[in-house]
Parts: sequence; structure tokens; C-alpha cells
Amino acid sequence: MGIHRCVKLVNKEKLKDDIFKFSIESEEMCNLAKPGQFLEIKVLKGIEPLLRRPISIYNVDKDKNWLEFIFQVKGKGTKILSEVEVGQEIDIVGPIGNGIFDIKNYENAAIIGGGIGVFPLYELAKELKNAGTKNINTYLGFRSKDFVILENEFDDVSTNLIITTDDGSYKEKGFAINKLKEDIENQNSEGKVPEVIFACGPLPMLKAVKQLAEEKNIPCQLSLEERMACGLGVCLGCAVKLSGTEDLQYKHVCKDGPVFWANEVEI
Ligand code: FES
Repeated sequence: MGIHRCVKLVNKEKLKDDIFKFSIESEEMCNLAKPGQFLEIKVLKGIEPLLRRPISIYNVDKDKNWLEFIFQVKGKGTKILSEVEVGQEIDIVGPIGNGIFDIKNYENAAIIGGGIGVFPLYELAKELKNAGTKNINTYLGFRSKDFVILENEFDDVSTNLIITTDDGSYKEKGFAINKLKEDIENQNSEGKVPEVIFACGPLPMLKAVKQLAEEKNIPCQLSLEERMACGLGVCLGCAVKLSGTEDLQYKHVCKDGPVFWANEVEI
């Protein structure tokens, strides 16, 4: 269930008007963290668990013992979090997550993300690369040029980086899923047909990825982190139905995930 610590904010960057990257220093948490896991971060004072927010891990820098996460200011809690300054402490429980990304030395792996769902995919790509994966083809989709984020960072850890924007204001016009599909069908990306697909992003994108993986018979892992509210098993708002089971067989994204094999769950 992770460890509970008050850790120091050692670096803070504003990536967009409402998106912040925080780096905290914790050797213990860095040693425990696995790609796909998240942190439960206290955003308001008090003892109730609902005062914490689940935020996925973006990067683990083991040289510096920095654990980094990126978040968007969406309400009062994340607004207050965004006002924490370097040198101050943050109350964190983590890393949390039983369902994590399956890191191996694949020949060809595809990663697909959309919007703010791209953040946990960076640590995934980095660890796949460290594990010796030969081709990492990363497909990232954003609404428009203004929303494109972490392009250089993903470029560093990918063999090929394909960026799409819905309106065509930057790079390829259209949805990332269509580019992935096209590449799988043409087998013309350098990596050829992937052995595995990893995805994180909005639900419609995840549904399309799951369908594509099933059609093409490619193992696929989905991070359903978007479905989490409390992240602690308290609100039960993150239930996800198991595939091929009678009604009422559920898993919880925060306890059993956030990463699942696509054929395990119905979304
Ligand atoms: Fe609240 Fe899982 S997110 S129970």
C-alpha cells in the first residue's frame, strides 16, 4: 500500500498555465516505484482520506532520488497543491498500485497516450528502453498545438515519436489511434507489428485501443487511472467489470490497477 511520508519539494516547473511538474526527494519511494503506479497526495489539511488525490508517477530519477509527478489544476485541492513552494513538505502515501506495466525487453512495443493521460507513459517508455526493448513507437494525441506537452522528453525515450492533433495545428492531423492502426496495417513503421500495446488516456481512446488490440490479436495493457477519484478504496467509484464473468464481478482501479490487461476488463 505504499509508505506514508512527508517529503520535500525540491523542484517545481510550470509546464503550461495549469499544468505543473513537481519533483520530490525520497530514496525510499524511488526504490519502490514501478511504472504505472501512483501517489496519494494530500492536497488539503485534515485527516479525511478524501483530502488526498491520486496522481500518477511521471519519472523516477534514481541518481538524484527524485520522484516526479505532473498534474493539472482542476479544482480547489490541486490549486492549493500548485501553490506549494520548493523547500516545503508534501504529505504523500505511495507508490500505490498492484496492476503495473509489464516491463520486458520486447522487440517492438507500441505506446499510445492522449492528453494528460500521457504523463505515466514516460516512465514506462524509459523503463522499456532500459530493459532493452529494441523499438518503442510512441503515439501521442492532443487536441491542438497548445496542448502538446513533453515532446522532447518522449522523443528521448522512443524510437519513433508520432504526435497528432485533432485539428491538425501541429504535426499529424487526426487521432493517435488511427496512426497506430495505419502503422500496424502497413507494418511500415520501423518496429513493424508490435508485440504489445500500452495505453493511457481518455476513455474513448482506451476503448478504441482495446478494440484494435483484440482485432489484431496483440496483447495490450491499459492504465485506467482516469477512472480514479479517491484512489484509496473508499469511494468505490472506480469499479470496472471483469470480462467474461457474470454480472457483479468487479475490480477496483485503485486497488487492483491502475493498469489492467485489456482482455481482463470491460470498459
Ligand atoms: Fe475511490 Fe477506487 S478510486 S475506491
